[in-house]
Amino acid sequence: MKVSFVGDKLAKGDIAVMPIFEGLKSFGATKDTVSALGKAFKAAAKAANFEGKPGQSFDIFAPADMPVDRLHFVGAGDKKKFDAEKFAAKTVRALLMTRHKSLTFYFDGIGLSGDDVARGAVGARLAGYRFDAYRTKLSADKKPVIKALKFAFDSAAKARSAYNNFHGPLCDGTYYARDLVNEPPNVLFPKAYAKRIKKLESLGLKVEILGEKRMTTLGMNALLGVGVGSERESQLVVMKWEGGKKSQKPVCLVGKGVTFDTGGISLKPGNGMWDMKGDMGGSAAVVGAMYALAARKAKANVIGIVGLVENMPDGKAQLPGDIVKSMSGQTIEVQNTDAEGRLVLADALHYARTKYKPQAMINLATLTGAIIISLGHEHAGVFSNSDDLAEQLANASGSSTERSWRMPLLPEYDRLLDSPNADMKNIGGREAGSITAAQFLQRFVGDTVWAHIDIAGTGMKNKRHDPRETTFGTGYGVRLLNHWVAENYEG
Ligand code: BES
Ligand code: MN
Ligand code: ZN
Repeated sequence: MKVSFVGDKLAKGDIAVMPIFEGLKSFGATKDTVSALGKAFKAAAKAANFEGKPGQSFDIFAPADMPVDRLHFVGAGDKKKFDAEKFAAKTVRALLMTRHKSLTFYFDGIGLSGDDVARGAVGARLAGYRFDAYRTKLSADKKPVIKALKFAFDSAAKARSAYNNFHGPLCDGTYYARDLVNEPPNVLFPKAYAKRIKKLESLGLKVEILGEKRMTTLGMNALLGVGVGSERESQLVVMKWEGGKKSQKPVCLVGKGVTFDTGGISLKPGNGMWDMKGDMGGSAAVVGAMYALAARKAKANVIGIVGLVENMPDGKAQLPGDIVKSMSGQTIEVQNTDAEGRLVLADALHYARTKYKPQAMINLATLTGAIIISLGHEHAGVFSNSDDLAEQLANASGSSTERSWRMPLLPEYDRLLDSPNADMKNIGGREAGSITAAQFLQRFVGDTVWAHIDIAGTGMKNKRHDPRETTFGTGYGVRLLNHWVAENYEG
C-alpha cells in the first residue's frame, strides 16, 4: 500500500473518508464538503441514524462535480479525544473488502499535528496487513485491492517527513516481523531464517552468521543443547547498525528465535502446538527493529543478536537431568527441556555483553506461558535490573502504543533456581513462572543495564480486537524498540 500526503483539497480517489465528530460537527475540507452537499448531508445522516459516534458511518455517492466517487462519513466521537491512528485502522478494517483501490483520509482542520497524521498512515497500514502467501485458492473477491492510502492535510510536508523519516520505516519493520512470525516452521527454520536476515545487508546492516562449529568453539553449550535433537543446524545471527558517533557505545537487542518449540523430550501436548511456530517472536521483533533502524538511518549504534534453534525430541535430544556448561562458565541442570528459551538467551546475552560491552541490553522473548496468565495479551512483561531503563521502556510503551508492564525481580525468586547438582536448574517450579524465568536470564547479564521483555502474550495472538493487529504474528516490539532508541540514544 502506497502512502501519500496530498494537501487539503478534495483529491482524486475513489473513496473519501471524512471524520464527522459527535453532534455532526465537521471541519476543514470535510466542512466544505458538507456545506456543498447542503440538505443531502443531514438527510442521509438522519436516514443512517448517524450521530458522529465512533463505530457509526454512512455513505453518499458524490455529486458529479466532486472528484471522488464515494464519500464515506465516519463517526469520530469527541474531537479532543480523536486518535488518527485508531480511526484510520478501524476505517481500513471496515473497508478492506470493498472493491476500492484507494482511500483518501480528510485529516485537515481538526487540530492534528504532522506526526498525528503520519500515525494515521501507520494505523491504516497496520490494519491492511495480510499474510496470504500460501493461500492458493483465495478467490479474487476475498483479496483486498487497496493500493493507495492518501492523507489530505494542510501541512502535508510535515506529515510526509514524520512518515518517511520515522513512522513509515517502523511500519515496514513491523510488516517484516509479522511475516517472520507467520511463516510456517518448515519454511522458516534456523538456516533459512539466517539467510533471510543476511539479505538485510541491502539496507546497510552488517550481518554475521555463526554456525554450530563456531558456537562450539565459543562454548555456547546452553544454546547448542536446545538444538541437538534437531536435524536443522542452530544459528546465531549478529546484525550491526552503525548510525551513531564512533565513540558511542552500542546498545544490544537480543531475541529468542526458537523456530519451533515442541518442548523437546519434555514434549508439549499436541493440541495448539502449531502456535509454537511463533516461538521466534522475540527474534522477529529484534530483526524488525533492526530493519526499521536501518531504513530510517537511526543516529545510534545498535547491535541485534538472535539465537535461532529448533527444539525437537530425538534419540540425540537433550534429556531432563542433563547438565550443560554455558558460555559464561555457569552450569545448568536442564530439568525441563521445554524451558529452552532461557537456555538460548543465556548464551546470547553473555555473548552480547562480553563481546560488545553495550551501555544497555534488552532481550525479547516469547518466554513463558505464565506471562499470559499474569497479563493476558494486552501487556508484555518487563523485568529490569535498572529503574532508569524500566522508566525509559514505560515511556516508549506510551509513545509507541505497544503496552508493557513492569514485573518484579528479587533474590527470593532467584533462590528458586538453585540446584544441588549444578550452579542452577532451568525451572523454578509452578509459582511465579515468568519471574523465575527472568531471574534465570539475570544470572547471565552481570552488571550490564538490562531488561527482559516477555512477549509470549503480545507477540502472537489467535484472538485480536485491536484493528491494527490482523494476523497471528503481531510484530510487537518493533515500534517499542525504535521509540526507545529514538528517545534515548539519538539526541
Ligand atoms: N515458548 C514457551 C512459552 C510459551 C507458551 C509461549 C505458550 C507462548 C505460549 C516456552 O519455551 C515454554 O515452553 N515455557 C514453559 C516453561 C516451563 C517448562 C517452566 C511454559 O511456559 O510452560
Ligand atoms: Mn518451551
Ligand atoms: Zn519456547
